[in-house]
Amino acid sequence: MPLEGPFKVCCVGAGYVGGPTMAVMAKFCPGVRVCVVDLSQPRVDAWNSSKLPIYEPGLQSIVEHARGKNLFFSTEVEKEIEAADMVFISVDTPTKTHGVGSGSASNVKNLEAVARTIARCASSSTIVVEKSTVPVQTADALQKILAANSLDRPDVEFQVLSNPEFLAEGTAVRDLLSPSRVLIGGPESEAGEAAIAKLVALYAQWVPREKILTTNVWSSELSKLVANAYLAQRISSINSIAMLCEATKANVDEVSRAVGADTRIGPHFLRASVGFGGSCFRKDVLNLVYLSESFGLPEVAQYWRQVVTMNEWQKERFARRMINVMFNTVTGKKITFFGFAFKKDTGDVRETAAAYVAKYLLDERATISIYDPQVQTEDLWREFASTLGITEESHPNLKNVVTLENDPYEAARDSHAIAVMTEWDEFKDYDYEKLFHSMQKPAFIFDGRNILDHQRCFELGFEVACIGKTLPSHFDQPSTQPSAAAGAKHKRKR
Ligand code: NAD
Ligand code: UDX
Repeated sequence: MPLEGPFKVCCVGAGYVGGPTMAVMAKFCPGVRVCVVDLSQPRVDAWNSSKLPIYEPGLQSIVEHARGKNLFFSTEVEKEIEAADMVFISVDTPTKTHGVGSGSASNVKNLEAVARTIARCASSSTIVVEKSTVPVQTADALQKILAANSLDRPDVEFQVLSNPEFLAEGTAVRDLLSPSRVLIGGPESEAGEAAIAKLVALYAQWVPREKILTTNVWSSELSKLVANAYLAQRISSINSIAMLCEATKANVDEVSRAVGADTRIGPHFLRASVGFGGSCFRKDVLNLVYLSESFGLPEVAQYWRQVVTMNEWQKERFARRMINVMFNTVTGKKITFFGFAFKKDTGDVRETAAAYVAKYLLDERATISIYDPQVQTEDLWREFASTLGITEESHPNLKNVVTLENDPYEAARDSHAIAVMTEWDEFKDYDYEKLFHSMQKPAFIFDGRNILDHQRCFELGFEVACIGKTLPSHFDQPSTQPSAAAGAKHKRKR
């Protein structure tokens, strides 16, 4: 269906989803005016500057291509909503930290606030698109709030669609340019179908029609949670197998390859790691758990909760192993983290496994020196405070015992161990001989991402531990110990 006249899109929420999604839409729909609005002035200012508020490969050029032509970033939320034909809601929906469902239900207060603003400001009929990840049946709540708050304008009607986003950070641009699918759920009514057709017409500017799936609203909302739960489940599954590999001398990378070669299983999301992080997986699986409990399905809830429980254990286990391998104490020892972001190619640290591991090490009074190519200091402290409750008040010496360095070699100097927490490609290419010589001995590497050349690191003199593999130790094989690895003669208790 062609979009009539000058079509105006407004997206509320200029975050990791709203910004990239709308930039790509603006690029492919030059006839559509796209405005991304947010309450945060600094965030909007950053979107309007040469240093975008998020790091995402390929994003800068797409934003610069459309910005000022048909892509705008603004804090004038009400004005832009009033002018829009279609409003996307892309605000954050974090896990609740208080009241009913605390710790598992999603907090939809921002979403509701936006719905009330839309109801108040819309001057003509408007299509409202849920882009945020939400509990099932949120569209129904939105519809009721919109209707109840626009009774004074009977000519203004709202159609609420669900259009969850499946992009992953670090590959957001690639995912948006060429999505595996676009999912649109809408009311099964004439007006609902017309609204769906308009959203389909937007996406059809760059997404092949057969990849645009339409469903009822509830299926669409639920599918988003289920997709993330399945992905997270695969990681917890392979991490559980990694534990078995360590116990049996099997190699988890080999098991992944062998299992993933079955086309019914497939190779994706079978990389064992220190644990999944990011703002979505934990939150969305717990949301599914809460929904299952609310609908009287405790067995279903329990089944999915285990995905998160396994991930918590994987992070704790990694930290415990570090402590155990380093002679059962890290007190006063300097540990270097290579990477703090929750995955490579992003500066996002929300729910990063690195923060949890840091917490366990801080409890043991270690000092932590971090190098990450993209992470910003203020985000690091925010994550410590918001997810782990670690602040200057709770840990008065915090900013002396945790430091973010600009150079990996400086970060590692005099440290007892390097822990690879993020799979940044550049970590594979560092001069590990130089690193070895600058460190305390024995020098340890804990590869939480299984990305380094472990044999080479071992030959350089490092004691290496990784996920789901048993590696040789200089302590067990004194004859293989290079002369450089002086001090590595102690017998280690395993
Ligand atoms: P974010 O925190 O990066 O951005 C949300 C933005 O919304 C913030 O800038 C905030 O200031 C703004 N906001 C909040 N309330 C507002 C209001 N009332 N009016 C105007 N602006 C308001 O969040 P995000 O990572 O972009 O995630 C947004 C949603 O998309 C969440 O539901 C998330 O689960 C989902 N999602 C995220 C990803 C991802 O990779 N980050 C992927 C798919 C889906
Ligand atoms: C995820 C979903 O992939 C995406 O579809 C959804 O829209 C948002 O949530 P994201 O969290 O950005 O995306 O990144 P993802 O690539 O899924 O990685 C999540 C975490 O799992 C990261 O910490 C990553 O390192 C970890 N991971 C991923 C593994 O440990 N092993 C794997 O095999 C894959």
